[in-house]
Amino acid sequence: QTEFNEILKQNALVKKSLSQDLVIPDFASFCRDISSMFTETLKNEKGKVADYIPQLARVNPDQFALSICTVDGQRYSLGDSGVNFCLQSSCKPINYCLALEELGEKKVHRHVGREPSGQSFNELTLNAQGIPHNPMINAGAMMACSLIDRENNIADRFDKVNKTWKALCGGKDVSFNNAVYLSERQTADRNFALAYFMREKNAFPEKTNLTETLEFYFQCCSIESCTYDLSVAAATLANAGTNPLTGDVIFQSSTVQNCLSLMLSCGMYDFSGEFAFKIGLPAKSGVSGALLLVIPNLMGISIWSPRLDPLGNSVRGVEFCERLVERFSFHQY
Ligand code: DON
Repeated sequence: QTEFNEILKQNALVKKSLSQDLVIPDFASFCRDISSMFTETLKNEKGKVADYIPQLARVNPDQFALSICTVDGQRYSLGDSGVNFCLQSSCKPINYCLALEELGEKKVHRHVGREPSGQSFNELTLNAQGIPHNPMINAGAMMACSLIDRENNIADRFDKVNKTWKALCGGKDVSFNNAVYLSERQTADRNFALAYFMREKNAFPEKTNLTETLEFYFQCCSIESCTYDLSVAAATLANAGTNPLTGDVIFQSSTVQNCLSLMLSCGMYDFSGEFAFKIGLPAKSGVSGALLLVIPNLMGISIWSPRLDPLGNSVRGVEFCERLVERFSFHQY
């Protein structure tokens, strides 16, 4: 049955190709352009690996990976695309989607806003209502974690997140970096401070276990995968929540619409406004050097390069995005 499904899937791609119905008809020439942009970007050795979590500081900074998956399933990868890295903050959009799917927009946004904070991702600040500004910064991401599957025990809740990533990546298991998790937990004073601040303001739903919520958040940040698989997750967001490889509906389109809106306005730390202006596409970065880029109705791109700029975004990741929209008219406006 699995083999048969595989043949059907490939046939769908072949059929589209024969009828010139693919979103990128000349994929070979597109990939040649992507490859030369990748080579140019590789020359950039600026930036510094995140060192506030000791395990992240030990990553080889020279690595660079890029993978593309179109909404009809054409794929292309370059560099270290099979090397695993931890998701860090690039897990935040998915946790927000999970909370939305479960509770709906109204309930979720009683606990988290949808405005950019204009400040760094771990700033000790809440909005005028005493809730986090948005789900893409630490406070908001911890809040999203407190909302996911809250009736269940913590093991099942983590399972749910894991299974969702697996489905987003087209059925490939994601891994978990326990050393990063432990390291993260040991250096979490700021996140604890943020959580206590939120508790003081009654921002959490009733009966939230603070330590459990924080540990759940650290665990989500410590999930690992590679750009080859994560590009499929990005493509699922580009495809309104339906995985382009498996055809499975992972999220409703309204959930993805909300998520992409917030990725556009808040996904790149306090560079989000500049990124939205210059690149005009929803994205989410993480301090591991991860970057998920979504070109709605066209493709998902996963980039990874550990050297970060002073705001915490991957230097090569941002440069590649700039080159991409210079060459192709992907800017949404
Ligand atoms: O909370 C932290 O410090 C990290 N685990 C997440 C860091 C990250 O990627 C920044 N995010 N917005």
